[in-house]
Amino acid sequence: MVTMQLEFEQDIAQVLLTQEQIAVRVAELGAQISVDYAGKELMLICILKGANIFLADLARQITLPLSYDFVAVSSYGADTKSSGVVRILKDLDESVESKHVLVVEDIVDTGLTLRLSYLLENLRSRRAASVKVCTLLDKPSRRRMDVPVDYYGFQVEDRFVVGYGLDYGGKYRNLPYVGVLKPEIYGGG
Ligand code: IMP
Ligand code: MG
Repeated sequence: MVTMQLEFEQDIAQVLLTQEQIAVRVAELGAQISVDYAGKELMLICILKGANIFLADLARQITLPLSYDFVAVSSYGADTKSSGVVRILKDLDESVESKHVLVVEDIVDTGLTLRLSYLLENLRSRRAASVKVCTLLDKPSRRRMDVPVDYYGFQVEDRFVVGYGLDYGGKYRNLPYVGVLKPEIYGGG
């Protein structure tokens, strides 16, 4: 694999998951999903923007015919947290009726996004045949809302990570690996 010199790599304190580790794990997930959904009509639903890169790699490791679509939900900033609502900003273009839906997320942290967006309930109410969740990263120690994680790539500790789709202030999504930001970048040191 070609090693790239990225301008903003100096902001990374530590590489948590290398490009190779991610590729191996995504291939394993794809193989497992291919077994589990054999003979079923599979639809991947990517939560924008963070899961976009994971979706692209995961979809190519699944050996079944499938379709995919995108949703965007508002993040729960200071004001949305108090109102307790995470809105669906961009809805699906296609019907999920009678499809086996696998929601693809970059990271499940507190669980608020999946819970408060009512996304999973919403998909069930639109008569999806089944609704499951596949996340690249899972931070179980941070969970505040119970959400089912059916597939995960890696469990991570309570540290803020970027890369492979995950951002800080909109940046670092295009890092090919997952890393920990230097504290001085987010004002933590
Ligand atoms: P939750 O709603 O708290 O489960 O968090 C889900 C969303 O928060 C993810 O889709 C990310 O956009 C963001 N997020 C949570 N933890 C991290 C992190 O460590 N790095 C980057 N984004 C994160
Ligand atoms: Mg996200």
